[in-house]
Amino acid sequence: MSNELLDPARYAACRKPVLEAETLPAWCYTDPAFFAAEKERIFARAWQFAGRIEEVPEGGYLAIETVGGPVLLLRGKDGRLGAFANSCRHRGARLAEGSGTCLRLVCPYHAWSYRHDGSLAGAPGMDETAGFDTADWGLTPLRFEIWAGFVFVCYDPATSPLCTYFGDMTARLASHGFEDFLCVRRRDYRVRANWKLIAENAMEAYHTGTVHSASLGQQAARELDTSGHWDAIQVLDDASIGVLPGEKPPFAPVPGLSQEAREGTYFTTLHPNTQFACVQDCMWWLTFHPLAADRTLVRVGQCFPRASVAQEGFAEKAAPYFKRWDTGIDEDNAICEAQQAGLESSLRRPGRFSGRERAVHRLNGWLLDQVLDEASAPRRI
Ligand code: FES
Ligand SMILES: [Fe+2]
Repeated sequence: MSNELLDPARYAACRKPVLEAETLPAWCYTDPAFFAAEKERIFARAWQFAGRIEEVPEGGYLAIETVGGPVLLLRGKDGRLGAFANSCRHRGARLAEGSGTCLRLVCPYHAWSYRHDGSLAGAPGMDETAGFDTADWGLTPLRFEIWAGFVFVCYDPATSPLCTYFGDMTARLASHGFEDFLCVRRRDYRVRANWKLIAENAMEAYHTGTVHSASLGQQAARELDTSGHWDAIQVLDDASIGVLPGEKPPFAPVPGLSQEAREGTYFTTLHPNTQFACVQDCMWWLTFHPLAADRTLVRVGQCFPRASVAQEGFAEKAAPYFKRWDTGIDEDNAICEAQQAGLESSLRRPGRFSGRERAVHRLNGWLLDQVLDEASAPRRI
């Protein structure tokens, strides 16, 4: 790694207050060496969102990708969850993809089989192997925590517990009662853009009047003060923006929402690569799994309160939300790909921010705090 890219002096202009600051240099979005530093200094330490608990079938599994490699969430018939490396203890094959139920998880290579608690149940043909005891060869466990039905994994034992890491996020979003939500749909997108562009896009409403002129329309947002490794803006509209403008939301707001939550939709970034969009009557989550400096797997899950899902005619009532989500996400992904293409120009020079992009500037500041070689901005993860 060229240390030059991590020299704080090269980012002095980015560190100024937002209305004096420059945007991040293009290499932050294009250079494999900068991406390698992000993997080592951010993703190896941070809490990464894995999925909703109800997405892991009881007596089954959910396989996800993380920057540390493929991960399996396993759940017993008793509902107990575990997180493990998705890698067979024999010669390393990935054990499963997607999600499903199984009596035992059987490796597709030589049929070693694992229980839902990760322990090794059977290893055919290993009788002659010296000192081999199945009790020693369970799946490699991974640290995980669950908040309000959201499952997060972390590779670093030194990272703060989830609730400390996310500061006041859990209290701020508590009134939505996400523990009583269900994820009803999940979509994956492969986007030819750096993961940060997708994160930044959702943290400003400046683009909405152009990128979403024919769909969501212009939105107004306010900045929120947050503490911990998260950030938020709130798009102000006391009606749900889970449906397109002009459509009447068929679901009532969640009972017991805080006064602030009733006033609009939270667009949040849970550093580094998760966002929760929290509307009065629904929510959607996004993760940006970086595949390379210029490629990202965007995963989106769409959730409603359990009580809404139980209503008669739920599928028809949910259809306008799916239409809004599919339209908005396609438009955002397309503009991020156009931005990536422009950032790859050798003629690109840093730009400036408007007063409507304060949260983007804050995201950039958080990133530099973690990645750069500087004593003045200690890594706080
Ligand atoms: S790699 Fe899994 S059984 Fe051989
Ligand atoms: Fe957008």
